Amino acid sequence: MLSKKMMNALNKHLNAELYSWYLYLSMVSFFKDQNLEGFANWMELQAEEEMMHSMKFYNYIIERRGSVTLDEIAKPEQTWKSTLKVFEFTMKHEQKVTALIDDLVILARKEKDNPAEIFLQWFVTEQVEEESNVDAVISRIKLAGDHPGAMFQLDTEMGKRIAAPQV
Ligand code: FEO
Repeated sequence: MLSKKMMNALNKHLNAELYSWYLYLSMVSFFKDQNLEGFANWMELQAEEEMMHSMKFYNYIIERRGSVTLDEIAKPEQTWKSTLKVFEFTMKHEQKVTALIDDLVILARKEKDNPAEIFLQWFVTEQVEEESNVDAVISRIKLAGDHPGAMFQLDTEMGKRIAAPQV
């Protein structure tokens, strides 16, 4: 059984993951508006991963006999000055999520909740991958610079991203 403190913290984080989903959906439409279908595809898969993360928290709370509390999802940003700005924003957001996961791990230890700590380990690893993926895209956008041909090619490559297998 989850402690009340742990249950509230997991519910709060469920909302943070749902917000990530919402934010990335907003970025999908931003890219679609500019006919950057490859970037839109990349971000759509990112959004799908956030929904999968949300469901992991949702199901875990229930599995531990806690109660899920669905809160309002904050309105996400909708416009950015450039493709690079979108990904820099994404990086900052992912770093915030990493810090939230770290705080949850610390709380699980304080609460002596071993199962929750083990559950959260998947997210600790996932955040390393998320930040690394976004960092790689930022580097490539910077390499492409202001060359339309290079950005066109990058957009084509972003379109090749496929869904990661669910674990
Ligand atoms: Fe679910 Fe991108 O953190």
